[in-house]
Amino acid sequence: MLHTVRTTSPEEAATFIHQGEVVAFPTETVYGLGADVFNAAAIQRIFEAKGRPADNPLIVHLATLDQIADVAETVTPAAAALIQHFFPGPLTVILPKCPDVSDRATGGLNTVGVRMPDHPLAQAFLEACGCPVAAPSANRSGRPSPTSWEAVHADLNGRIACILQGDRTPAGLESTVVDCKQSVPLLLRAGVISLETLQSVWPDIEVAAPNDPRAHRSPGTRYRHYAPRARVQLVASPDEATPHPEAAYIGRDVPSSGGFGKILRCETVDRYAHELFAFFRDCDAAHLRIIYCQTVSATGLGRALMDRLQRAAASHT
Ligand code: TXA
Ligand code: MG
Repeated sequence: MLHTVRTTSPEEAATFIHQGEVVAFPTETVYGLGADVFNAAAIQRIFEAKGRPADNPLIVHLATLDQIADVAETVTPAAAALIQHFFPGPLTVILPKCPDVSDRATGGLNTVGVRMPDHPLAQAFLEACGCPVAAPSANRSGRPSPTSWEAVHADLNGRIACILQGDRTPAGLESTVVDCKQSVPLLLRAGVISLETLQSVWPDIEVAAPNDPRAHRSPGTRYRHYAPRARVQLVASPDEATPHPEAAYIGRDVPSSGGFGKILRCETVDRYAHELFAFFRDCDAAHLRIIYCQTVSATGLGRALMDRLQRAAASHT
C-alpha cells in the first residue's frame, strides 16, 4: 500500500508527475487521475489504481493550446472551430494521434482525446507538470466519478501517490466528448457543454445513438459506468417512488409523503447535475438499497444528466 500525500499545492503535486507517479486533481467537471502521457510506466499505474480495462482510452489534459501539436497529428476544421470557442472548458475533442503517444494511453486506438480544463487549480497543476497529462476520472472503475477530494480518497487512498485537494467540482458531470477526426463531428458522450451550444458554433454535428456501432470508438461507454451500488430506478414524478427507510429520492420535485432514508430536491438541472454523483456516494455510504431519480427533459445539460441516469439505471438490470 502506498502512502497517499494530500496537498493543496499544485507545484508539490506536479513533482509526483515528474517522478512518474499518478496524481488526482480537481477540474471543473470531476476529479481526474493524471500521469505523464509520455511515460508508459506511469500510464500503466493509472489502469492499476483504477482497475480500469486496458482498452478504455484516456483523455489528455493540456495547459496550453501549443501542446495539442505534441499529441495530435492534425487538427481538422471542425476541431479547430470547437477548440477556438470552447477551450479551456469541459469539451474533449478526439483527433488522430501522434506516434509518440503510447497505445496504452489511447487503449490501442489511433486517436487521442484532448481537453484543456477551465479550472485555476487544474491549470496551475498542468503548467507545473510541463507535459500533457493523461487522466480518466479519479474513481475506482465502475464507481461514480468523484466530485470531491473526499470521494477520491474513499476510492483510491493507498493506491495513488498524491491527491491535489481542491473544492467540490463546479459542474459535477464529465466533459462532452466529440469525435472530430472525420469532417462531420460525432457526439460520443453528452457532457457539460450541451449539443445545442456546440451546434451554435458548428451546426453539422451527428449524435451517436446508444447502440451506434461507432460509439465503440468511445469504449468507455461499453462498461458499467456512473452507477452506485444501490439500484437506480427512474421516475417521471416523485409520486411513483415508494417511500421506505432504505430508499432515497433525488429530483426537481419533492415527494408529497415522507418516509425516505434520504431526499434531495434540486431546484435546477444544473444543481441536479452538480449533486448527482455525490448523492449516489452518500446513499451507498448509508447502505440504502434503492435510489429513485426523477427524469428531466433531455435538452441542454439535461441530455448529459439523462445519459448518466439511464446508464446508472441500466447497469442493474
Ligand atoms: O470531464 C472529464 O472528461 C473527466 C475529467 C477528469 O477531465 N475525465 C473523464 O475521463 O471523464 P474518463 O476516462 O472517465 O472518460 C473518458 C471518456 C471515455 O468514455 C473514453 O472511452 C472516451 O472518453 N475517450 C477517451 N479517448 C478516446 C478516444 N481516443 N476515442 C474515443 N473515445 C475516447
Ligand atoms: Mg470515468
